[in-house]
Amino acid sequence: MSSRIPAVIIGASGYVGGELLRLIAGHPNFELAAAVSDSVAGKTIGDVFGHLATAFLKDTFVAHSDWLDQVDTDSDLALFSAAPHGASAAVIAAAIDACEQRNINVHVVDSSADFRFARQEDWEAVYKAQHGAPQLLDRFICALPEHADNIDVAHVGHPGCFATASTLATVPLITSRLTETDVFISGVTGSTGSGKSPSAGTHHPVRNSNFYAYKPLAHRHAPEVAALAETASGRKTNVHFVPHSGPFARGIHVTLQAKATKPVTEEQVRKVYEAAYADAPFVQIVSGTPRLKDVVASNQCHISVATDGDTVVVMAAIDNLVKGAAGGAMQWMNRLWGLPQTSGLDAPAPGWT
Ligand SMILES: NC(=O)c1ccc[n+]([C@@H]2O[C@H](COP(=O)([O-])OP(=O)(O)OC[C@H]3O[C@@H](n4cnc5c(N)ncnc54)[C@H](OP(=O)(O)O)[C@@H]3O)[C@@H](O)[C@H]2O)c1
Repeated sequence: MSSRIPAVIIGASGYVGGELLRLIAGHPNFELAAAVSDSVAGKTIGDVFGHLATAFLKDTFVAHSDWLDQVDTDSDLALFSAAPHGASAAVIAAAIDACEQRNINVHVVDSSADFRFARQEDWEAVYKAQHGAPQLLDRFICALPEHADNIDVAHVGHPGCFATASTLATVPLITSRLTETDVFISGVTGSTGSGKSPSAGTHHPVRNSNFYAYKPLAHRHAPEVAALAETASGRKTNVHFVPHSGPFARGIHVTLQAKATKPVTEEQVRKVYEAAYADAPFVQIVSGTPRLKDVVASNQCHISVATDGDTVVVMAAIDNLVKGAAGGAMQWMNRLWGLPQTSGLDAPAPGWT
């Protein structure tokens, strides 16, 4: 019998779900128990994701109604959700209930936005909808693994892609007190950030060879970054965020600017980041400026800094689907099971994508 922990992915037919499948295919400690999708139930994984055909020769997607049959009672379970926000929480609540009835020891990591706020009213104010499982909020935390040494809950809400890059860039600066607590962040994301279903604003002819801002100073990720930064730094942070659509498929690049509280040198700022992430295997403080091709398809975040003495700039680049979603979720899942956080995640970026 395998000693690997069974893993189930809700939303397995989507872009993040596909990346979770790819990471599980190479993971030494987890094995796929069920790839859950109603729309492609019965199809092989290779039918939907051609690039994964050889990794999962016979596995088929299973419907929501059937996945529990693939998990033994009294077993362990790593449950990933890559369902849309607004739907994920209720699906997770039903899964946790079912696991409790079968004495299955489950840890959940949710890639959706449903567990990104500790308080129901904060989530409902941002998402303008009723929360799907408020009874579970105190059983989840939302944080980046780099900013939370110890946690005392069983489940995690992953912060998401723009928030991962923005929060990794923001927290050391706010903690250092080298700048004021207003941070101005300009971010650019690739088209996979919008998921697999095309819409008028995300369709290839619109995004390809194009570049534009959207929801300037009004995006839902700004309050999420502010909450994460405040929890990690202990200081109230004002996040002014302008997202952009970039003409590429994968990757996120953010540029943060903040006003120095007194004249500061680049060396001072760099030392703050090097110290903050000295023990973080997935965060590198690079010379020059971060480049998407150095991180895309990996779980790495590259950060660099600059200053003219008065204004501080911090740049960060990640892969939205890996460090910003599936890889970040896997990093947390490793920790929840007491595994090295790098387990299954240490492949470098391919460089040419
Ligand atoms: N794309 C990114 O870069 C990124 C980054 C960070 C976080 N996220 C978050 O991760 C989640 C997945 O994103 P994605 O880009 O992979 O989206 P996607 O490509 O649209 O895939 C969404 C998946 O959710 C499933 N789904 C749809 N409605 C559902 C429901 N009511 N209950 C359960 N499952 C349902 C779909 O599966 P079936 O319809 O086949 O069942 C589909 O496989 C989202 O919450 C997103 O906000 C995405």
